[in-house]
Amino acid sequence: MTAERRDSAVVVAVQAGLDVAALRRAFEELDGSRVVLLSKVYLDETLVRRLTEVLSAVAEREIHVDVKVNPTMDAGAILLVGEEHRVVLDPRSKWVAGIQRSAVERVENGELPTPQDTYEYLRDMLTSTEPEVSVEELLDTGSVAEVGDGIATVTGLRDVGSQELVEFAGGIFGIAFTLLGDRVGCLLLGPEEGIREGGDVVRTGHLLRVPVGEALRGRIVNALGLPIDGKGSIVPKAYLPIERKAPGVVERQPVNVPLHTGMKVIDALVPLGRGQRELIIGDRKIGKTTIAVDTILSQRDTGVACVYAAIGQKASSVERVVTSLAEGGALDFTTIVVALPNEPPAFRHVAPYAACAMGEYYMEQGGDALVVYDDLSKHAVTYREMSALLKRPVGREAYPGDIFYVHSRLLERAARLSDERGGGSLTALPIVETLAGDLSAFIPTNVISISDGQMMLDTALFNEGTRPAMDVGLSVSRVGGTAQARVLKQVAGRLRIDLAQYQEMAQFVKFGAEVDAATLEQLTRGERCRELLKQAQHAPLALEHEVLILFGVVEGLFDAVDVADLGAMERELLEYADVQQPEAMAVIRTASEVTAEVESALRAVIAAFLERRRPNLGGTPPAAGTAAPGDMPDAAVPDMGPAVAGPMSSGAVT
Ligand SMILES: Nc1ncnc2c1ncn2[C@@H]1O[C@H](COP(=O)(O)OP(=O)(O)O)[C@@H](O)[C@H]1O
Ligand SMILES: [Mg+2]
Repeated sequence: MTAERRDSAVVVAVQAGLDVAALRRAFEELDGSRVVLLSKVYLDETLVRRLTEVLSAVAEREIHVDVKVNPTMDAGAILLVGEEHRVVLDPRSKWVAGIQRSAVERVENGELPTPQDTYEYLRDMLTSTEPEVSVEELLDTGSVAEVGDGIATVTGLRDVGSQELVEFAGGIFGIAFTLLGDRVGCLLLGPEEGIREGGDVVRTGHLLRVPVGEALRGRIVNALGLPIDGKGSIVPKAYLPIERKAPGVVERQPVNVPLHTGMKVIDALVPLGRGQRELIIGDRKIGKTTIAVDTILSQRDTGVACVYAAIGQKASSVERVVTSLAEGGALDFTTIVVALPNEPPAFRHVAPYAACAMGEYYMEQGGDALVVYDDLSKHAVTYREMSALLKRPVGREAYPGDIFYVHSRLLERAARLSDERGGGSLTALPIVETLAGDLSAFIPTNVISISDGQMMLDTALFNEGTRPAMDVGLSVSRVGGTAQARVLKQVAGRLRIDLAQYQEMAQFVKFGAEVDAATLEQLTRGERCRELLKQAQHAPLALEHEVLILFGVVEGLFDAVDVADLGAMERELLEYADVQQPEAMAVIRTASEVTAEVESALRAVIAAFLERRRPNLGGTPPAAGTAAPGDMPDAAVPDMGPAVAGPMSSGAVT
């Protein structure tokens, strides 16, 4: 390189804001001539040559640049000079951004009236100018001031970004969490034993990323996406940052595709749509997790990928969830993200964001995903603990004021994307645990206000045997109604009315009021509606089964069945329908609404079933019903055959 050329390279470097003196010191300490450039993207030869020239000029000797492409980086490039120094370079993105800015200005000034003009302008700019190397900042090394409780405070990291990943000497990573005067409070993503006070901390220039994609299906991972199920390493297709901006309004479209949960009470009364955020809220041990797990079980064969994040749950509870998913055949399409109570707090803090990123991947690909955050109460408590250790100011219930923002930016990422963006969706089921049903506490009110509705579970209902213990009056789904399957919607409207009327009348009857025949009928109906909304855990139903049961009850077809016998009757009816009436069930399954044909299919199936069941019941209905529920249809087929075939084949199949 000639002296003149070297000078001009140095001038370029200085103009670009490169700290030549500091860089020169780094080169003085460098043994040999090789430096490593970590880049997110492939860099073309011209650019690398130019960078080599600039660096050689600064070092005043030949420097060789080895480029290593590392797609997990957030942006730009990092130059490693020996072991001690790293420089964050951002050659391409600034250059492109500069061109883009000038194009936008020209469009706004009217200098580029048509898209064609803009295109030509951009093309000319890109081919005629070369990117310049600029240095955003030099190695920013801090040192550990204090360490403990999963947190380190660090001095000297001047320009570290919020949520940026930092690396401690010894290879432990941390997240820059909060600014405390001239210090930065960092959450440790590993054991603190190796971290000493006075030790070095360096910026990495990027956010924490987690592996995403199909390779995570069926796996149990920690909050960093590393496998903890002993099934070997995961080779992911991609990485995504755990924190991302939620899709904007123009990138979204209304939620109008149902997300089937398989629970009658939910699908009928608080229907969910893909892309919705629906809170599951209630005291401890009344079936919140069970609702989330059963919703996942229901996604088998729907193509909806699921992510379950266990945040601060006991290992035994997580195990129960894993077992239920495995037994229900749902593990193949589910990823389980676990942050246990004994792990560093940063893991519990990060877990829901990591799970969200894993779900977002499917949404971005145009697919559908469901993510469960179990639960955000424990997440909030973790945030409060970390904030207390870092002495941040506190607000209501000693939570830091930004806890609302912590949860809203998580839930905002649930969306149904516009068709231009691929039409994918991410549905979120956050769970919040209340104390003695107190919904007015800080975290419950916050999360209620940033969800599209809530399923409120009630301890009294759970204890009296109404399970799922959903309080129908207090639960809502604000966007799912438009997504609800039409066949179910028509049935559900009447169900809601029946339940409300029953509630009112049951009060009167309690006080010993005389009842007339009409009231008695409403009581009979309402009681049966309530009974048939009960459902065993881990037994999600197909849509046509839900329609069959709910149609039967609102039409009063089960009024003659003893309330205590309804559970057994339901099981028998569903089995009978599948085994004996597959054609009629197919009509219901594929129906877009309750037409005359569908209605007669529904009536025919139920009538035929009740007809053949009656003789079986004899004088003691419940006993006979429970004695041999499974055997009943088969045993009854020979003698009942002709009677059944008539109404069924005429009403339903043709
Ligand atoms: N629909 C249901 N039918 C019967 N038992 C249920 C049902 N839902 C939940 N349970 C039982 O209730 C208990 C608490 O449920 P869980 O989902 O763990 O509650 P939470 O998440 O609210 O603490 C579990 O033992 C579970 O098996
Ligand atoms: Mg639970």
